Amino acid sequence: MTETDAIVLQGISKTFGKAQKPSLYPTDLRIETGSFVTILGASGCGKTTLLKMVNRLYEPTSGKIYINGEDVTRISPTKLRRQIGYVIQQTGLFRHMTVEQNVAVVPQILGWDNKKINERIDRLLNLVGLSPQEFRKRYPRQLSGGQQQRVGLARAMAADPSIMLMDEPFGAIDAINRSALQDEILRIQKRLRKTILFVTHDIMEAMKLGDKVIVMNEGRVQQFARPLDILRHPANEFVRNLVHSDDILQRLAFVRAKDVMNTEGPAADPYEKAPEARESSTLYEILTLLLGGRADYVQIRDEKNRSVGRVTIKEIRQA
Ligand SMILES: Nc1ncnc2c1ncn2[C@@H]1O[C@H](COP(=O)(O)OP(=O)(O)OP(=O)(O)O)[C@@H](O)[C@H]1O
Ligand SMILES: [Mg+2]
Repeated sequence: MTETDAIVLQGISKTFGKAQKPSLYPTDLRIETGSFVTILGASGCGKTTLLKMVNRLYEPTSGKIYINGEDVTRISPTKLRRQIGYVIQQTGLFRHMTVEQNVAVVPQILGWDNKKINERIDRLLNLVGLSPQEFRKRYPRQLSGGQQQRVGLARAMAADPSIMLMDEPFGAIDAINRSALQDEILRIQKRLRKTILFVTHDIMEAMKLGDKVIVMNEGRVQQFARPLDILRHPANEFVRNLVHSDDILQRLAFVRAKDVMNTEGPAADPYEKAPEARESSTLYEILTLLLGGRADYVQIRDEKNRSVGRVTIKEIRQA
């Protein structure tokens, strides 16, 4: 393994109890440090099983896992908690605790002093787009689903782990909030250089977020590659069927604005209210904006909010 691999799986498999066949067949994977990897697959294909072995919620039946070069079975539970943040579906927030108490759980276990914990809570809530003043004292039931998910994210990042495991974190969220949360997690990941392993069964989400995507089926990894490579060179019949549907709109989800935008067009007209999108936005999202009809182009902005190009129907057609 190299120094740049945050997570390495060697021959990892899992068979539960007396089950007839493995939930995960022997699997080798390397997740580079600082990369955003999505795991895509249908219900029951073994996504959660794989994730839970990485932070030792499940013990593998065979194989070894290394976190930042270290065998996980030799890492103390405390250190593992510090290195790996975990966000689960339906947030898993403690219902009888306020937002601030939820976020403070891991730092308290790690024995941080109150001042440091307090500063950390403010910083994290701001980072996930919740005003500390407004939200610190609320209970989970007083939050919307999307807000709860943001708190779950803040809680998972509390001890500044280098690795984040996220299991269908946005599954229960409506489309608009979901898209906002996706943009948020991309922004956070770019800024903080976390390694993220993110489970989803939504192909659009997998392609939008992942630098690379792990496609799984029935306990086996079918392909592990960049979104465009999966589209251009599907590894087998299963992947081909998944991505080569006749649904052209779906295929637009494989291409990002950055790859096709026109960077030489006229500068943005400050008086025109063109819709805006990010470099990481997919052409599917951009088409949706264009169809909104406010302008005949979408202004693309980078992480620092600088205008870096535009996308019109022409670029989408060419793609
Ligand atoms: N604790 C367990 N005991 C026995 N079998 C289990 C256990 N957890 C999972 N399984 C089985 O392992 C297989 C994979 O389950 P897993 O939870 O990893 O699926 P998944 O891909 O995360 O699905 P979903 O998208 O529905 O969350 C399933 O057949 C499931 O029934
Ligand atoms: Mg699951």
